[in-house]
Amino acid sequence: MKGIILAGGSGSRLYPLTLVTSKQLLPIYDKPMIYYPLSVLMMAKIRDILIISTPTDLPRFKALLGDGSKFGIRLSYAKQDKPEGLAQAFIIGKKFIGKDACALILGDNIFYGAGLINHLENSVRRAERYNRSTIYGYYVDNPTRYGVIELDKDNNPVHIEEKPKHPKSNYCVTGIYFYPNDVVKMVNKVKKSARGEYEITTLNNLYLDQKRTHMTLLGRGYSWLDTGTHDALNDASNYVQMIEQHQGIKMACPEEIAYVNKWINKSTLIKIAKSMSKNDYGDHLLKVANGKIIYASSVRDER
Ligand code: DAU
Repeated sequence: MKGIILAGGSGSRLYPLTLVTSKQLLPIYDKPMIYYPLSVLMMAKIRDILIISTPTDLPRFKALLGDGSKFGIRLSYAKQDKPEGLAQAFIIGKKFIGKDACALILGDNIFYGAGLINHLENSVRRAERYNRSTIYGYYVDNPTRYGVIELDKDNNPVHIEEKPKHPKSNYCVTGIYFYPNDVVKMVNKVKKSARGEYEITTLNNLYLDQKRTHMTLLGRGYSWLDTGTHDALNDASNYVQMIEQHQGIKMACPEEIAYVNKWINKSTLIKIAKSMSKNDYGDHLLKVANGKIIYASSVRDER
């Protein structure tokens, strides 16, 4: 399974914050925004990841993340000259994807919830073994801003409408998608929409028409955070701060995920921790390296 993070766009809704930097490099509390989607792909055990961004911003992502070896992963980079739609990721990423299945996550999407890893692993299996795609649905009060999922009487997804005036449900498509390898062919059937974009919704409808889509519903216990406005950006930082301080954990810490996945060893983790000049992030990494954090998944549930 390969993974793509789409981290381009003009970020104009966040001006002047994004006049000279990429939206996906802005801080969400204690780390750059892209750490959050990167961590989600790593939680899905995806180690080959392509970052797509604008020609101007790409060098900054490279400076931040490098070749990925500090996280035990392999990172590649590709430019999107113009923001011509989310599905363009599969045109740009065709060679990178090769013969594998592929996940796409938007570089400004934040997901959080205890059972997320299971859902992600199921999505990978569904794409690799059963040739099926997965979309993630989420309840919203303002569906007109999103891709909206029309459901049948059994709550199976049947069709998606992009930013409809009269939404057929309150369930929207979030910014993470899993596809089997034929996504590189399916994307060729996607024509540009009236607004000049290769719409991810058109691609998703092709899979829905072939009855090859599963919808994972992120219900109670999951948060999907938007970062599209100044208020939403601030709320996301406050949310992360609150969770981290109350629970004594770090959300979206790629070094920790890499260590737990056994992709980097203890001495590498300690070296990274010490390079954080004794800040809170470095302290957390030291706690992880010294076994001070117990993971719920490692504790057996007795009857
Ligand atoms: O956030 C979920 C929604 O994302 C879905 O419900 C919609 O179906 C989907 O179309 C998309 O809608 P948005 O209006 O949020 O997409 P937006 O154009 O804002 O792009 C999302 C992110 O992707 C944004 O950070 C910029 C980046 N982007 C966007 C485009 C169109 C790119 O990097 N390249 C692009 O070509």
